Amino acid sequence: MEYLFVPLILIGVLVVIAILLLLAEKALGGGGEKIIQINEDQIIPVKSDGSLLSTLSEHKIFIPSACGGKATCGLCKFKLIEGGGEIKPTEEPFLNAEERAEGIRLSCQVKVRDNMKIEIPKELLNAKEYKTKVSYIEDLTHDIKLVRFKMIDPDHMNFKPGQYAQLNVPGIDVIRAYSIASNPKDIHEIELIIRQVPSGKATTFVHKALEVGDKITLTGPYGDFYLQEESNRDMICIAGGSGKAPIRSILYYLRDQNMPRKVKYFFGAKTKKDLYYTEEFLELSKEFPNFEYYPALSEPLPEDNWTGQVGLITDVVDRNIGDLSEAEAYLCGSPGMINACIKVLNKHEIRKENVYYDKFS
Ligand SMILES: Cc1cc2nc3c(=O)[nH]c(=O)nc-3n(C[C@H](O)[C@H](O)[C@H](O)COP(=O)(O)OP(=O)(O)OC[C@H]3O[C@@H](n4cnc5c(N)ncnc54)[C@H](O)[C@@H]3O)c2cc1C
Ligand code: FES
Repeated sequence: MEYLFVPLILIGVLVVIAILLLLAEKALGGGGEKIIQINEDQIIPVKSDGSLLSTLSEHKIFIPSACGGKATCGLCKFKLIEGGGEIKPTEEPFLNAEERAEGIRLSCQVKVRDNMKIEIPKELLNAKEYKTKVSYIEDLTHDIKLVRFKMIDPDHMNFKPGQYAQLNVPGIDVIRAYSIASNPKDIHEIELIIRQVPSGKATTFVHKALEVGDKITLTGPYGDFYLQEESNRDMICIAGGSGKAPIRSILYYLRDQNMPRKVKYFFGAKTKKDLYYTEEFLELSKEFPNFEYYPALSEPLPEDNWTGQVGLITDVVDRNIGDLSEAEAYLCGSPGMINACIKVLNKHEIRKENVYYDKFS
């Protein structure tokens, strides 16, 4: 009988530990059902105690998350009204004093451990998950590809010119943001312009593995960088590299309305092999006197035989614009380029509230 006694005591101890762990989990709010209240009017019961970002996504509410939840993009912000715990060190670099005071947080860093009340912009509730099929791929330059996606389910995406979508790289847990480069009237197929980043996870997949016919999941549309349709201000557009994507969408939209606004578009590249869609935009400028296109090379090679604008895009913009106090600016490209361009625009008296940009970080 004694040989049975020891295992029985062991089992008893394990049962007690398990009960204690369950009670502790309950006390901490984990495991059981919790309630997330969104914008006063929507209530979702959830079981998960993962991140708010992934929990909402399981319930088909898609918050932008270009870094896939690694606290490096800062796009997944929302307003926390109740619950959710204190700000984590990983969130601090992305929140300024004003945002902290308002309760703004990163949804990838906040765990759903208790009932929560949150606010997210109404437009985000329109973002959906789309099953798509790649219908066309084209090399635009040595390191930039155009990829066209046919929307399968749902079969169309409505978006504002300038907004972006997120691409889920199949097989690996990688999600990246890409501006929509196509005409917003083409709702059944959308185009992205993707530049290869050396050793980049998503861009290496797109450049080395993606093929016509592949099935890809996109989410969107996202972003508050889009054409201000109610405005009739003159426009300055500045882009570098793949930053041409959202400006192309904006210009297609304006072209379809017979270019009702005066637009100067500056595109910066290093050498001639980095230029693309040059003919297309020069043709547009011939068709519409309201539209001027300034492709510029910062380091043209002798064999480029380049007779156009030369210099850093900031210098090219500086010498080709006048007073901007009544103008609107749309900037797209690397954070460094955008910051430098904003300084030049400020010199020409642009108003802060009339500058719109998407930093491709
Ligand atoms: C709102 C938004 C819109 C965007 N739209 C576009 C678009 O239309 N076209 C496009 O090509 N990209 C766009 N991007 C950038 C894109 O989301 C990815 O960051 C980029 O493609 C790199 O992803 P990756 O997985 O290949 O690189 P990762 O694996 O994330 O990065 C690999 C390495 O490269 C560095 N790195 C990351 N991004 C860049 C970069 N852009 N340039 C130089 N180094 C980088 C990283 O710091 C890291 O060291 C956009 C980003 C944002 C936030
Ligand atoms: S998803 Fe990128 S910081 Fe949260």
